[in-house]
Amino acid sequence: MKTLLLTHPLPAQVFVDAVHAIDPQLPLLEYQPGLADAALGDVEAVLGWRFPAGVAARLPRLRWVCSVGAGVEKLLVPELLPRVQVSRIVDVEQADGIAQLVVLMALRHARGLAAYEAQQHTRQWVRQPIGALRSRVGVLGMGTMGSAVARMLQAVGFQVTGYSRHSGQSLQAVLGGSDIIVCALPLTPQTEGLLDARAFASMPRGSYLINIARGAHVVEPDLIAAVRTGQLAGAALDVQSREPLPADDPLWDVPGITITPHIAAQSSPQTIAEQFVQGWRCLQRGEVPHNLVDRVRGY
Ligand code: GLV
Repeated sequence: MKTLLLTHPLPAQVFVDAVHAIDPQLPLLEYQPGLADAALGDVEAVLGWRFPAGVAARLPRLRWVCSVGAGVEKLLVPELLPRVQVSRIVDVEQADGIAQLVVLMALRHARGLAAYEAQQHTRQWVRQPIGALRSRVGVLGMGTMGSAVARMLQAVGFQVTGYSRHSGQSLQAVLGGSDIIVCALPLTPQTEGLLDARAFASMPRGSYLINIARGAHVVEPDLIAAVRTGQLAGAALDVQSREPLPADDPLWDVPGITITPHIAAQSSPQTIAEQFVQGWRCLQRGEVPHNLVDRVRGY
């Protein structure tokens, strides 16, 4: 069962090495733009991050797509035949890594660290009022990532409310009752652009946004306007709608917005390879791979 590697921008060789360390015989093909249809004709599996335009339509024998990440939205292309199963990596260590970045950013905001960093530049030893120790945090999305985030935030003293399609509270209520909002949602047509001017207007004045999900959840011009007018105190964005974020993007220049380059946490190539090989063996035995996503729901 030949597997096509579509890991770009991550280097494919890292995944070749990790998969072959477990099973040296497993047939892998690294995608190159010039590959002939003949080379793709017998591909039955994909391990990847995104489909380059037109490639899915050139894989007539494709049965399984395994995402190298937790999110699958760049792999759910319309050309994917209905029989193709799509799975993702579920990695508790990655979730904990993401939760650490969220706690770091939430504490940095709640304890006013940016103000002290600014004071240090001018050698001012001035005490500011201590920010609320028990800020209310709304976590949007309570899957593997959101649940880990909620647990770690609670452990350092935040009051956490989780929001998911099963939770009783409306989105408006969670937005309105939170000093900090964390976005941990999957990106689907329903969640794209969810954090827009209306959502920011529902949040209490001076509240804060942390996004560790996907840039496209946020309408970035609306966020910039909300921060510039003081409706939001700021935001920590580990993800942006354009990645890498171009040097001339207006997000870079907004006081209060902290940009990190999608570094909250990644699964290790070894974890990805282990879960991929497990899934691959399941298919060989005629079983269903683990951690399948619902293609209609999008996660
Ligand atoms: C990272 O963003 C992932 O989806 O794993």
